[in-house]
Amino acid sequence: MLILGLESSCDETAAALVTDDRRVLAHRLAGQEAAHAPYGGVVPEIAARAHVEALEPLVAAALSDAGVTLAQVDAVAATAGPGLIGGVLVGLVTGKALAHAAGKPLVAVNHLEGHALSPRLTDPDLAFPYLLLLVSGGHCQLLLVEGVARYRRLATTIDDAAGEAFDKTAKLLGLGFPGGPAVERAAASGDPRAVPLPRPLRGSAEPHFSFAGLKAAVARVVGQYRAEDIAASFQQAVIDCLLDRTARALAGVEATALVVAGGVAANGAVRLALESLAGTHGMRFVAPPPWLCTDNAAMIAWAGAERFAAGLTDPLDTPARPRWPLDPTAEAVRGAGVKA
Ligand code: KG4
Ligand code: ZN
Repeated sequence: MLILGLESSCDETAAALVTDDRRVLAHRLAGQEAAHAPYGGVVPEIAARAHVEALEPLVAAALSDAGVTLAQVDAVAATAGPGLIGGVLVGLVTGKALAHAAGKPLVAVNHLEGHALSPRLTDPDLAFPYLLLLVSGGHCQLLLVEGVARYRRLATTIDDAAGEAFDKTAKLLGLGFPGGPAVERAAASGDPRAVPLPRPLRGSAEPHFSFAGLKAAVARVVGQYRAEDIAASFQQAVIDCLLDRTARALAGVEATALVVAGGVAANGAVRLALESLAGTHGMRFVAPPPWLCTDNAAMIAWAGAERFAAGLTDPLDTPARPRWPLDPTAEAVRGAGVKA
């Protein structure tokens, strides 16, 4: 089975071809860093226009890389949300057109489900249920992944996502955009104990995350310490919060593994800390390779493959959904999921 995946929910345009036996035949990606850099963040209208220009050539390139034609594809998977509506529409409409032209089914994929199932693309032994820490630019959640299309949200952020805090810290330190990798690089030559910073909600009885106070605290110390020391201390504070909240969730669930996914999961220090936490709980730790953590279309194709195998396809009038929680039964939390 061969699945074409499309991703366009934020600032990466991507197309990939993935098989149900876990072969990534092609995976193409066009970032938009240069277009958004002057604004220090993603500008939705610029993003949507860039997706329009990039997507079709990327699909053609991916098909050519894989040495296949559209007629050989068994289903087309496209991100249908959540995310910036202009971009989501570009990818979803393109996916619908390709599916219709090829006479193949459409699979409308929740971007978060793409992240959530991505570890199973590279780890065939990862079985349900697993505890997932999903940390990206728009989300910070703990989910019990019980199966394809079956997610129980255990915690979310009450304000900012972890990736958003990385991006804001990079901006405050003048490290550029996107911020996560820049902060990680600066942190490598800094002292994580140099700058006193808060660990919001650490030890709290409630399960959730909060990063707004940490972000504000970074703003107050800029200029008082070396940028490298602020970066390292900030990164350590984020890690301490992630570990504390994840340990709390681990104590209350039966899971086969601790899994991390999403853009922030590309961070080496975050991965190491979570691996050691899993070790102290005698649990398996699984993290996708860094290229599969940040936004890409292979994870969308893979989620499409998993959904298709489960008999889940979607009609061509499926709407784009700027907001789309993975667990619709989870109670609303202040500010959660504000961004993508
Ligand atoms: O999953 P993703 O590519 O897009 C969303 O769905 O949001 O995540 C992007 C986020 C950005 O905030 C980016 O700064 C962060 O992931 N990120 C990192 C690293 N690489 C990307 N954060 C910390 N360390 C990194 N190495
Ligand atoms: Zn993402």
